Amino acid sequence: MTLSRSLSPESLRLRPATPADAGLLRRWDEEPHVIRAVTDDPGASTAFVDADWDEELADASAVSFYLIAEVDGRPIGAMQVIDPHLEPTGYWGDIEPGLRALDIWIGPTDALGRGFGTQMMQQALDLCFADPAVHAVVIDPLNSNADAHRFYQRLGFAPVGRRLFNDEDDCLVHRIARSDWEARR
Ligand SMILES: CC(C)(COP(=O)(O)OP(=O)(O)OC[C@H]1O[C@@H](n2cnc3c(N)ncnc32)[C@H](O)[C@@H]1OP(=O)(O)O)[C@@H](O)C(=O)NCCC(=O)NCCS
Repeated sequence: MTLSRSLSPESLRLRPATPADAGLLRRWDEEPHVIRAVTDDPGASTAFVDADWDEELADASAVSFYLIAEVDGRPIGAMQVIDPHLEPTGYWGDIEPGLRALDIWIGPTDALGRGFGTQMMQQALDLCFADPAVHAVVIDPLNSNADAHRFYQRLGFAPVGRRLFNDEDDCLVHRIARSDWEARR
């Protein structure tokens, strides 16, 4: 383990995203590793092509909000936290209450593979399960994103099945129950 790998995660913090972060998210949308995580379309040149980041960030609510991860004050990644039962787009369809759904992406390529994503997930899972009404957290990586599956499974998520979202995104849904997360902490 290198020095930076062992020290850096200590100084990572998650803060709420603000409308001032829209430019950052637009920049990260152009990163090839982010595009590959969001779509299987080999011709895609932007990740969250339908996202109007100014609007998304201004519309933050208890059922859908974004977090920015900073390492020593430098923004390096983003997360979305939603209540899939209540969030207004109905992305997850008919799904039970008492869940949270997470999305995660690291922006700068030099921040990949250094343990920051693991630290972000640990902090976000603690945040989700701090609400006693939450009994599990779900996540929807593309079925093709084997690196992300390994990443989630190391955190304790288990695959629960393949599902097509938005009629086009072939995903392998993963889930972690509160009891499994608490047993690992
Ligand atoms: C997935 C992701 C958040 C993990 O964060 P990270 O800081 O790179 O990961 P860590 O250093 O904590 O852990 C390393 C693991 O992350 C995964 N990983 C590393 N680079 C990755 C990449 N470009 N894409 C997906 N997963 C990656 C691998 O499982 C890796 O484990 P390995 O060493 O066995 O290969 C980050 O790689 C990323 O933002 N990838 C692109 C976006 C994405 O795939 N998001 C998830 C889709 S829902």
